[in-house]
Amino acid sequence: MDQLQTDRRRFLKFLAASPALAYVHLPSAVAQALQGEPAITSAKDAINVMDFEAIARQKLPPAHFGYLATGVDDNGTRDANHAGYGRIQLRVRRLGDIRIPDTSVTIFGKTWLTPIVVCPVGSQKAFHPEGELAVARAAKGHLQMLSTVATTSVEDMNAARPGEPVWFQLYARTSWSDTLKMIKRAERAGCPALVWTVDLLGGSNRETVARARRVDPRDCTTCHLNGDSSADNRRRPMVAEFPPQPSNSAGQPADGFSWDYVKRLKDATSMKVLLKGIVTREDAEMAVERGINGLIVSNHGGRAEESLRPTIDCLPEVAAGVAGRVPVLIDGGVRRGTDIFKALALGATAVGIGRPYIWGLASFGQEGVEAVLDILRRELQMVMRQAGTSSIANITRHHVIARSADGLVS
Ligand code: FNR
Repeated sequence: MDQLQTDRRRFLKFLAASPALAYVHLPSAVAQALQGEPAITSAKDAINVMDFEAIARQKLPPAHFGYLATGVDDNGTRDANHAGYGRIQLRVRRLGDIRIPDTSVTIFGKTWLTPIVVCPVGSQKAFHPEGELAVARAAKGHLQMLSTVATTSVEDMNAARPGEPVWFQLYARTSWSDTLKMIKRAERAGCPALVWTVDLLGGSNRETVARARRVDPRDCTTCHLNGDSSADNRRRPMVAEFPPQPSNSAGQPADGFSWDYVKRLKDATSMKVLLKGIVTREDAEMAVERGINGLIVSNHGGRAEESLRPTIDCLPEVAAGVAGRVPVLIDGGVRRGTDIFKALALGATAVGIGRPYIWGLASFGQEGVEAVLDILRRELQMVMRQAGTSSIANITRHHVIARSADGLVS
């Protein structure tokens, strides 16, 4: 952007914020110009994490942005996840003398700078050439989970994160011996935890990405085997040696995936074992009874089934089932520091983000991811100060209330 454009943009912003304009009709030229405001050109210009979505949409080819954006069916669950936070209000306390709130959290004996967790997202080199490594560098001090279908090896990731190895996210395979190979590799690479994703075992209907592929003018076969992205293992170091397998029930082992599999995983590894994708109290209880070390309340960012239930609505019942016995993480639709605060108040130990950091990655690489984490941390610190909570442990159920207009007052 040249200097003239920058000055014009600043002037328009000043005009829009001016109290004088509250009393006069905003000249239509100004209103129009603000609507068509050029996208930000550097990570530090972002005002909130959503600013990065617009850039990602511009920069990525349609199929790649479609892969990122897609939910399932009508994207109802994807959108419900964030909307769920809008139904919860804060009960802030005054005069707590909170100047620098402590955002640190400790999970399995390791202390992290903030409760913000970088969720596993596959194929990150589709979003930026440095992919998962750019995220690793940006997310120092933050818990990062690495996808089974990552485009960077678990060994390279852990080398880039000294003292902070990633948690390895597992898509279990039809063949137990292949699954075991992956588990042992993650263990050897120093991962302290294995996160088994259990919310995609029956397949998912992702229409948005299917439509996006149709309008992408590129020849997909130059990157994807047979043009089928789900069948392409070549750029995914953890699964490169395995044959493609269906990501629905056809890809399950002969005896299926059941609760017995949890015991199998527990017996196979010294890593902590967590389940990602638990949304009910019953399943939370069954998991803890089987010795699981932690749970992640998740619906895969609305990319699994169209349940329409936001994860934040599932959190209280999962937390009740767990009853403080193991950590409970949550993800889905988290876009604001206040969302993080609300999840912590309702029983989460830590709070994950998926799309927002990928928007940052696609926009400006490592710097974009840093900016996303920074914005969310600042927003969280601000609400903590405003609410009179000096530490994460001080954020409790008493700091939130369901919106009375919805008849959901708790
Ligand atoms: C994901 N997610 C995901 N989860 C997982 O367990 N393994 C994976 O490989 C992936 N891959 C993946 C790709 C893309 C493009 C997205 C958007 C998501 C789900 C992810 O870990 C997390 O649950 C959601 O992204 C959280 O929701 P938000 O923050 O994206 O709304």
